[in-house]
Amino acid sequence: MDGQQLSQRGAWGSKVAFIFAATGSAIGLGNIWRFPTMVSQNGGAVFVLIYILAVALIGFTVMLAELTLGRHAQKNPVGAFEYIKPHTPWKLIGYLGILTGIFILSFYAVVAGWALGYFFKTASGIFKGKVTPEMSNQIFTEFSSDPIQVFLFFAIIMGLTIFIISKGVKKGIEKWTKILMPMLFILIVFLAVRALTLPGAGQGITFYLKPDFSKLNVAVVLFALGQAFFSLSLGMGTMITYGSYISKSDNLVSSAGWVSFSDTLIALLAGLIIFPTLAFSGQAGSVGGDALAFKVFPLIFSEMQGGQIFGTLFFALLCVAAITSTISLLEVPVAYLVDERNWSRNKAALLAGFITFLIGIPAALSTGGMEFFTKINFLGLFAIIFGNISLAVGALFICIFIAYIWGVKKAVKEIHSGNPRFNLRPLWAFSVKFLSPAAIIIILITLIKKIITG
Ligand code: TRP
Repeated sequence: MDGQQLSQRGAWGSKVAFIFAATGSAIGLGNIWRFPTMVSQNGGAVFVLIYILAVALIGFTVMLAELTLGRHAQKNPVGAFEYIKPHTPWKLIGYLGILTGIFILSFYAVVAGWALGYFFKTASGIFKGKVTPEMSNQIFTEFSSDPIQVFLFFAIIMGLTIFIISKGVKKGIEKWTKILMPMLFILIVFLAVRALTLPGAGQGITFYLKPDFSKLNVAVVLFALGQAFFSLSLGMGTMITYGSYISKSDNLVSSAGWVSFSDTLIALLAGLIIFPTLAFSGQAGSVGGDALAFKVFPLIFSEMQGGQIFGTLFFALLCVAAITSTISLLEVPVAYLVDERNWSRNKAALLAGFITFLIGIPAALSTGGMEFFTKINFLGLFAIIFGNISLAVGALFICIFIAYIWGVKKAVKEIHSGNPRFNLRPLWAFSVKFLSPAAIIIILITLIKKIITG
């Protein structure tokens, strides 16, 4: 690699910088918007239980696998597979990741746009005074079916993402996360405490935390696993790419552990806000809809002293959390174009971002902006195909590649740099070789069977 290319790639300033960036990638709308929606649509506490198991047994395994591969190859996903197994179809997994990332970003940025819209709404005082569930639902419906507003905020999010990515890894990503993510965490804890002390909160907690095993089925398991990949930013090469910027002296195991832990903590806390608030407002645990969080958060702010300020701050921080995720999604195609095609970061970010914007148009119109797209529910469809199934497929092949093509021994050698002991080695090896691939295969086959037999 020559000097100019090296400076186009960039590297993390320190271990802490990487941790913040990876945590910033993981924590986002997946935790605060998608997780509660999934819980409410998939049987409540059973889903939560399977989700935690999926993170601990499979998500952590895949995270460590991706970081290890990335740091070893020092490359984007396509380049990483090519580096270890040149001139083989394995690099297709990298391409699948790039494609998946662009499609995820296309609907993710639409929802991030909702958060931005809600920031302005809350700041303007629209949720002041007593907000009923009906009012809150109506405000969301009006907002999300107005194509001008949805497009405006979607475009702003994409523009910001392109801007940050084109400025490069160091200056772009690190700066954002250091102060604002801890602030978001504190605010969420604070909101959870308020929600738990609302009258009637208990019913919501029961739905959220007391498993009803009669609701367990293969769809619940698939969605829990897919959500684990989505929330941890796995299965499409984000963590391979971020891993490629980590220094050889860093401990990959503790990094993967920290990112998995903090991401799960935020998701669980978001549920502790949503479900008690739902119960308090007299709505049953499992109200459907892809916009659950956007309908429920205004209700809790209206129950608080200074709710307008907390609400505004919350949506501002949610936007930041979303943007640290959107940049990690766009970084993957950009790293590919910079590494493999020798493009400048500027050109790569602009082109990949613009294509993503075009692909996002149906999702942006699917919440009421245009009847055709609303009927098909493009946003929901994209979320399942790319934000779930495609990530599971990607994660499966990443495990197989590490375990059987590259080899656990060589991976462990890479992990040993920065963590010479690696006490979890037997467990990780077992999971990456057998448990994780087997679980993903069984779930996918069961799903395919179900689809075929109706
Ligand atoms: N994990 C992020 C969230 O929960 C979204 C995200 C960022 C992502 N990068 C990703 C999802 C890569 C899947 C793959 O909001």
